[in-house]
Amino acid sequence: MRFDKVVKGGSVVTPGGVVSGDIGITGEKIAAVGPGLDVTGATVIDAAGHLVIPGVLDVHVHLALPFMGAVSSDDYRTGTRAGARGGVTTLIDFAIPYKGDSLSAAADNWHKRAEGNALIDYTFHICVTRWDEHKDQIKGMVDRGFSTFKEFMIYESEGWQSDDRAMFGTLEKMKEYGSMLLVHAESSRVLDELMARHHTPELMKRYGARLHRMTRPNFIEAEAIQRAVTWSEVTGGQLYIVHMSTGQGADIIRAAQGRGVPVIAETCVQYLVLDDSMFDRDDGHLFACCPQLKKPADVARLWQGLASGEVSVISTDTCTFTREQKALWQGDWTKIPMGMPGLETLLPLAYTKGVLGGRMSIEQMCRKLSTNPAGIMGLAPKKGAIQVGADADIAIIHPTKTMRVDPTTMETNADWSPYDGWELAGFSRTTLSRGDVIVDDYAVVGKEGRGQWLPRTRAGLAGAGGS
Ligand code: URP
Ligand code: ZN
Ligand code: ZN
Repeated sequence: MRFDKVVKGGSVVTPGGVVSGDIGITGEKIAAVGPGLDVTGATVIDAAGHLVIPGVLDVHVHLALPFMGAVSSDDYRTGTRAGARGGVTTLIDFAIPYKGDSLSAAADNWHKRAEGNALIDYTFHICVTRWDEHKDQIKGMVDRGFSTFKEFMIYESEGWQSDDRAMFGTLEKMKEYGSMLLVHAESSRVLDELMARHHTPELMKRYGARLHRMTRPNFIEAEAIQRAVTWSEVTGGQLYIVHMSTGQGADIIRAAQGRGVPVIAETCVQYLVLDDSMFDRDDGHLFACCPQLKKPADVARLWQGLASGEVSVISTDTCTFTREQKALWQGDWTKIPMGMPGLETLLPLAYTKGVLGGRMSIEQMCRKLSTNPAGIMGLAPKKGAIQVGADADIAIIHPTKTMRVDPTTMETNADWSPYDGWELAGFSRTTLSRGDVIVDDYAVVGKEGRGQWLPRTRAGLAGAGGS
């Protein structure tokens, strides 16, 4: 059998385990996986001494998001370039309806942002922000190729907030259509109360950005997750908790899954490698994200949840704000644009802290970064695994070679990094997207605009693999 390209001589992480051998690529697809493939007429990509892993899916990304008086500074051009350098070959953003927009108009708006700019493949979760207006539009979006929807339990001032009635009704529809509801779970009324109590000139002067952690105790997330789980349990609608940051959340998910509730949880890599001591730094306000970083005990519990299975996916919640944008806070923590850069460092962090740190095997890492997200988001078997018939989305990483995180040399628009100065292995030496080499020798070589929208017909638990 002849191939257009052969990835030669690497340690290939397949769904069946790590095998030494080659990957034969014909057009955009993986045509063969095995030792000693014929290279006649093929372009050979040397992977000797390297790990060859499935391209990463970052299923929680916000690009050019208007939020908290700013617009997040990584757009489809810089965000997808950053992703590619970090071995990400698919991303899912959130299409949010603005100013009386329908769900369909929101999707159109996000399509315009991506088309002509995206280097890697993408799709969107559709955000239901005004239930009475949007509820009858959900089926039309399923028919248009969107199988995941999103509701925020907070962000009233952004006009995004959903109440229990909306979550309950949306979950009923998810059950009917075989689709899935993603929920940002934080308890808004108590959170508002805690923020109001602390919003005094004296406390802001004394505690600065530390007030971010002081006003979001763990029960703010745990209570909201518990409530969303209840609506999933009674409706049977599939629920996916985004960016879970607390150990209590993991306990609730584990118990719910034990009762057969159709709930899945994602955490983000920042909740695995950082904790809320970051707010003690002079530039601690940079680390404000939502939900905020938690305690070392939460970090440990989330790693354990990845190992035991109640945490199925690692994503980033990329929502990049520059130092200048973060400076909008001017000493008032409620005004810090919340979010951090992440696409470029997801794989290096998961590999360095997870695999090299002895917390997970390389196969587990690939399940949490690629196979599970693809399956859960309705993108398998096209995406998420190195197997015959799948898209040739591949990252080739050196097992030990490290690079220093330096925002001045990165693809992201961020002029800072939460991981500045960290020595990380796992940056992608070579990234292939549908057979195209888009990163070569650690540098982006692919052309923007080649990324494609990915229509989907299903989502949910059937795609959640093991731990
Ligand atoms: O801090 C964050 N996460 N910003 C983006 C909005 C969200 O809640 O995901
Ligand atoms: Zn959120
Ligand atoms: Zn988010």
